[in-house]
Amino acid sequence: MNLLGIETSCDETAAAVVASGARVLSNVVASQFDVHGRYGGVVPELASREHLRAIVPVVRQAVEEAGLGYRDLAGVAVTCGPGLVGSLLVGMCYGKALSISFGLPLIGVNHIEGHIHSVLLEQKQQGGTIEFPSLALVASGGHTHLFQVTSAGPEVYDYRLLGRTRDDAAGEAFDKVAKLLGLGYPGGPVIDRLALYGNPRGVRFSPARMKGNPLDFSFSGLKTAVLRLVQAAGMEAEIARRKELLRAAPRPTLEQWLEATPRATLDLIASFQHAVIGELVRHAVAAADGTGVRSVIVSGGVACNTALRASFSGEAVPYPVYFPAPKLSTDNAAMIAAAAYPKFLAGRFAELSLAADASLSL
Ligand code: KG4
Ligand code: ZN
Repeated sequence: MNLLGIETSCDETAAAVVASGARVLSNVVASQFDVHGRYGGVVPELASREHLRAIVPVVRQAVEEAGLGYRDLAGVAVTCGPGLVGSLLVGMCYGKALSISFGLPLIGVNHIEGHIHSVLLEQKQQGGTIEFPSLALVASGGHTHLFQVTSAGPEVYDYRLLGRTRDDAAGEAFDKVAKLLGLGYPGGPVIDRLALYGNPRGVRFSPARMKGNPLDFSFSGLKTAVLRLVQAAGMEAEIARRKELLRAAPRPTLEQWLEATPRATLDLIASFQHAVIGELVRHAVAAADGTGVRSVIVSGGVACNTALRASFSGEAVPYPVYFPAPKLSTDNAAMIAAAAYPKFLAGRFAELSLAADASLSL
């Protein structure tokens, strides 16, 4: 049962073929980092144009690499939200066109559900299983959500939202702090690498205090605290030096970054990362304890973070914890094809009138 997945919700044009929701036959991702890098974040209009350029070759490559033809597919799954509407539309329109041309059923998938299924897919590929109910943390550039995931039978899943960010997503905080410090875009991977060289307890950040749901997150205060420290320490010259480094070499080496980043800034970077991870762990454990789940799953681009993986795998989280491989953590279409499989089995197909929904909830 081979499903083609198409994912274009943000700045990755992705297509993949997954057999029976369990085996990745191909997984093609065309990133737009070079287009958006100079702006320090995704520019929606440019993202749509890049998707238009990439969608046909990326889908063709995914089908070819799977060793299949379009007529060997059982269905087409497309991300229909949440995300940038202009970007979503490109993948959805192409998916609909394939559905009409080859008489394939169309399946609409929520991007966040896709991130959750990246972990289930990883486990299926490794021949392992996940104990349900499970607590899912989805932490990416656009989302920071906690869900209770229950499974009422094989390939039957249900989701209950327990908490979410009130302002910035965790990945967005990484990206904004990186932009502020002259570290380029996306910020997560470079902060991840540089944090290894700083003292995570060098700068103390106080956790956000909010009224209401204690499982909700807030990261904007942390970003403002970093901004205040940057202003107070007069870091303009070193930030300008790193921006210059980025202009000269779009992908600086670790040595180049370290040369351009003083000790105190490395401490700031490590402490910021430590604070974000601390909040994610604290909320995930509180949610898991409060709901009596049997496992924790962590996904989304931020789940690539080395220190985050170590924290979640350590004694702070007294549950079995599951991650996707890095290639399945960041945006990809294999997770979309995997999330579509239960819907395919249940015959939950979409009409051609399926609309893109920028703020689709799960
Ligand atoms: O899941 P994803 O590819 O796209 C969205 O759905 O948003 O996540 C991208 C986000 C970016 O904010 C990026 O900075 C962050 O994930 N990210 C990381 C790491 N790799 C990617 N954050 C922290 N550490 C990393 N190693
Ligand atoms: Zn995502």
